[in-house]
Amino acid sequence: MNSFYKYHLFFCTNQRDSGGACCANHNAQALRDHMKARIKTLGLTGKGGIRINTAGCMDRCALGPALVVYPEATWYRYQNEQDIEEIIKTHLQKGQIVSRLLLE
Ligand code: FES
Repeated sequence: MNSFYKYHLFFCTNQRDSGGACCANHNAQALRDHMKARIKTLGLTGKGGIRINTAGCMDRCALGPALVVYPEATWYRYQNEQDIEEIIKTHLQKGQIVSRLLLE
């Protein structure tokens, strides 16, 4: 079965009101928006391309901010725009895992 998207990414942007660890406290929304803009600028959107979506809590809170890339279900912890760029250039464009950012 062919995937509609080559890569489908889900960014947790959940904010916990309780004050517990959450991805929103690590700039998840802004970095998700940054990746979405970069993917658009690079012309990688649409069918057969890359889709960036927001997700609620994925229960990896203390290890986040978390994102997951399908179809491989590769989990990453990213912290800044340089990490986002490396995921784009290495994983999304070359199909290689960014080992240093893996969230096991
Ligand atoms: S708040 Fe992001 S995984 Fe739970």
